[in-house]
Amino acid sequence: MDKIVIEGGTPLRGEIAISGAKNAALPLICACLLAPGPHILENVPDLRDVRTMLALLEALGATWKRDGATLTIDTANLNSFEASYDLVKTMRASVLVLGPLLARLGRARVSLPGGCAIGARPINFHLQGFKRLGVSHQLEDGYVDAVVDGQMVGATICFDFPSVTATENILMGAVMARGETVIKNAAREPEIANLVDMLNGMGARIRGRGGDTLLIEGVTRLRSARIRIVPDRIETGTLLIAVGATGGELSLSNGDSTMLPALYAKLRAAGVRVREDQDRVHVAGNGVVRAVDIKTMPYPGFPTDLQAQMMALMCFGQGLSLITETIFENRFMHVAELRRMGADIRINGPSAIVSGVGKLRGARVMATDLRASASLVIAGLAAEGLTQISRVYHLDRGYDDLVGKLSRVGAKIHREAE
Ligand code: UD1
Repeated sequence: MDKIVIEGGTPLRGEIAISGAKNAALPLICACLLAPGPHILENVPDLRDVRTMLALLEALGATWKRDGATLTIDTANLNSFEASYDLVKTMRASVLVLGPLLARLGRARVSLPGGCAIGARPINFHLQGFKRLGVSHQLEDGYVDAVVDGQMVGATICFDFPSVTATENILMGAVMARGETVIKNAAREPEIANLVDMLNGMGARIRGRGGDTLLIEGVTRLRSARIRIVPDRIETGTLLIAVGATGGELSLSNGDSTMLPALYAKLRAAGVRVREDQDRVHVAGNGVVRAVDIKTMPYPGFPTDLQAQMMALMCFGQGLSLITETIFENRFMHVAELRRMGADIRINGPSAIVSGVGKLRGARVMATDLRASASLVIAGLAAEGLTQISRVYHLDRGYDDLVGKLSRVGAKIHREAE
């Protein structure tokens, strides 16, 4: 297993091309199950989660080939409707095959994702939504076995909370249902708009793109897709925050400057200079950070996937920062590791109170989940001395060559066998 070794204290300078978004690639790969294909996905990031999703599609009978960032997926010969425990346990997003399999084959058997490091993460919204569309299910041996009773029929579904993958799953399930489906309190993340564009390009009739109400008029068949994955706003945000902590100046290309309104506002309040320029974002910092309060919210609020990274930045600040996590109940795993580097953080229920200490010291720390790993990388880049981060497979799930990208803009960072 590899570890990441960082000699901190070097400002980042240069240009980094942002990769395609993990959280768009995963649902879009699943959407390929809806019609035989071949489907072409462009700007696909090279990530462990993407490879896991492709292994899952293969287990269902699909074939694929990758040429650089372009994936061609053929799902003409599906011969299974089961997503096994071995694949689902490593990646919760595997549950996204449920909707497409029900729409195409009328049946799906998917292992329940179970808990994960950042909380319980149930799938009750997905199952309640499918029930409204005429799907019955049983839970047995840790699997949900779902069957369409006759044909899926459109219905109005109102989520208790705007869940990202539940919105995507119901969308994919409903595109070929009879009649109209309305999803109310839908999640509005840009990755869902990417999925809507793909589905409409395949012949679906979905209105309300980007809004909290989606109207889906069922169609009888879909055709092949060709779509570009949107840029990864979480990778973008992670790099912007890194510059806030280390100082320096970066230009991020191949991005979309409209996707992170809440982060820009907070970074500016913290004293980091951010300039948006269509598909580029420029960021500059001098390592001086002002404390700001953060509360995670569904899009367009502050993303929970950037909370850990922002907390690392606040450690380098002056004053008190109140960070409140409202999406997941246990997403402070990085706190204990940041404390090992000298951070002063107290947890009080869903909030963390960070007293900026101005600087951190390098230490041996352990990655606990994907975004917690990114926060430790940021802390290590700006800390004094040597930081060693073990269990980096978490980082490989969702960042495409982060170590390579950072080292090309001046960071003293490399991987090493542990
Ligand atoms: C997605 C993202 C993840 C991000 C999260 C929140 C993907 C592949 N993953 O995860 O990176 O951190 O959105 O922005 O896109 N909930 C229920 N019942 C359900 C579904 C969700 O109670 O059936 C709860 C969850 O426990 C959580 C909240 O709703 O508290 C939001 O979760 P959700 O939006 O579903 O997250 P994911 O789609 O799993």
